[in-house]
Amino acid sequence: MKPKIVSFTLNGRPVDVMVRPMTTLQNVLRRQLELTATKAGCRQGSCGSCTVLVNGEPMAACLLPIEDVEGQEVLTLEGITPLHGLHPIQEAFFENFAVQCGYCTPGMIMVTKALLEREPRPDEATIREALSGNLCRCTGYQAIVQAVTDAADRLHGNGGVS
Ligand code: FES
Ligand code: FES
Repeated sequence: MKPKIVSFTLNGRPVDVMVRPMTTLQNVLRRQLELTATKAGCRQGSCGSCTVLVNGEPMAACLLPIEDVEGQEVLTLEGITPLHGLHPIQEAFFENFAVQCGYCTPGMIMVTKALLEREPRPDEATIREALSGNLCRCTGYQAIVQAVTDAADRLHGNGGVS
């Protein structure tokens, strides 16, 4: 199959990539664009390490043919990380010890971002449900749940940052 050009918005900027049909978004991000925050754990939709936001919704980049993001808005961890310092969600993960090896962390943070935009003050059950597609082999999840609650406070509590 011949390569084709796919155009979409990535982290707020328009991009055009020349790819073979059915190349996954994960491979385009990691191999072609060298944006390696999006991880490659299982490559079969089971672990959540490759989670990115497409039009604000969490999606497994390993299952997404690049053609499906034509004209769409894709956001990766690189897109929310400030030039200096950390995003409030990243700060919350760091300060709550919700990062050990860190392999699951980009996906967890992207899911958290989508969750807190949809639901600024989620309860624990809602947080666990939102994160249910994201596996972590290190933390036991409690620190991650605490980090999401803390991130909600940082983003939405006491007139905090947005
Ligand atoms: S690498 Fe995509 S879900 Fe595991
Ligand atoms: S911190 Fe290691 S997999 Fe989650």
